[in-house]
Amino acid sequence: MGLMLKAVPGTNDIFAQAKEYPFREPVFRYIVSTAEEVLRGAGAQMVYTPIFEYLEVFQKGVGLTSDIVVKKEMFVFEDRGGRLLALRPEPTASIVRAYNEHGMKVWPQPVRLFTWGPIFRGERQQKGRYKQFHQVDYEALGLSDPLLDAEAIALMVRIYKTLGLKHLEVKLGSVGDPEDRLRYNQYLRELFGPYAKDLSEDSRVRVEANPMRILDSKSERDQALIAELQPKPMLAFLGPAAQKFHQQVCNYLDRLGVAYTVDPNLVRGLDYYVRTAWEVHHAGIGAKSALGGGGRYDGLSEMLGGPPVPGVGFGIGIERLAIALEQEGVALPADPCPTLYLAPLDEAAKIEVLALAEQLRPKVNVEIGYTPKSPRKALEEALKKGARYVGFIGEDERARGVVTLKHLETGEQRALEPLQLHSLFEGPEIK
Ligand code: HAM
Repeated sequence: MGLMLKAVPGTNDIFAQAKEYPFREPVFRYIVSTAEEVLRGAGAQMVYTPIFEYLEVFQKGVGLTSDIVVKKEMFVFEDRGGRLLALRPEPTASIVRAYNEHGMKVWPQPVRLFTWGPIFRGERQQKGRYKQFHQVDYEALGLSDPLLDAEAIALMVRIYKTLGLKHLEVKLGSVGDPEDRLRYNQYLRELFGPYAKDLSEDSRVRVEANPMRILDSKSERDQALIAELQPKPMLAFLGPAAQKFHQQVCNYLDRLGVAYTVDPNLVRGLDYYVRTAWEVHHAGIGAKSALGGGGRYDGLSEMLGGPPVPGVGFGIGIERLAIALEQEGVALPADPCPTLYLAPLDEAAKIEVLALAEQLRPKVNVEIGYTPKSPRKALEEALKKGARYVGFIGEDERARGVVTLKHLETGEQRALEPLQLHSLFEGPEIK
């Protein structure tokens, strides 16, 4: 026998009994279905885009100075024609590509879309950081109005709260307009330039390429230098237009009663952001990682060769959210139990049990036993599954054309013909 093959580190199987909480399927389902309910309830439409695209979509989308590109975190491969493709390291660029490709610009604006699914980043694996993870993503495209930013933040918070999460912190900032950022980066370059040798290796590269990212560095060395140099925050460099926009987002959030703190130093990892940027933090995930993040990206469409299409949206990391739910001890909704557990008492009853189950499904949630067992064993099994009724078919039942049905709570037992069984389960409420 060869070595048993295993999953790639940083990727995970998601199923009900998974050892680690974030990979349990019911947790996943709870998050995705709640998010879907909230977002559909707010009029957004579901979209599924491919999980791989031409590399350019992401290179141009997330930007050449983003960590994803600088640290070569994208999973890139060639198609047969030698064109480079990449697994999506985030969904926003794909959704903007789809918006342009399907001419959504002529639809009534804004076009509000959401999706969920796997995302791929070749990051070093640690708690809450994986190579394949999952996001719920929402995008509102076609209007540059702070109202949409406030709505996106409110919807994101609503998803977390509906799930039962209590201890959230929304950190709101602004990365300004591109010209503001140019001025800010120039200021940081001049500030950090003379100290480049004191910076971590990653940050030394950033002095030229993207000095703003130094502020967000996880290295203690960098943080010590930042504490010493005390750089002015991005917010101090906003031009009048970006400043007004930021103020309006704040006013709208106040009016909506959505709690947030303004973080004058907020820096996001993707290059496409302009003006509004935010992150949601949770103590259970640690200060250095976010539960979710979002922002405005007017200008991204043009980078992908499309017309100007302003947009704002957010991404929620599903695994990190699951960790936070576990930390807060949020109870999951119980899985539905079968109404009826049908058990064969002998070999010949196996197909009879299945045939009856198939007649009653899907109106009645029926599970069956696959191997013959004694009535006592079948009863135990039915109780274990939380069923309301247990039914047996054996030689005697076959001869009489009935099922022996027992109500597990009252203990009442009757022999019923299939028609009687149907009418028992027909009423709007099954006793
Ligand atoms: P992001 O901040 O890169 O934003 O990712 C959003 C969330 O995905 C993070 O806050 C985190 O919860 C989760 N996440 C990121 N990397 C990992 C990882 N390696 N393992 C586990 N979870 C991770 C975006 O992706 C933007 N597309 C959000 C957005 C949408 N902005 C505008 N529209």
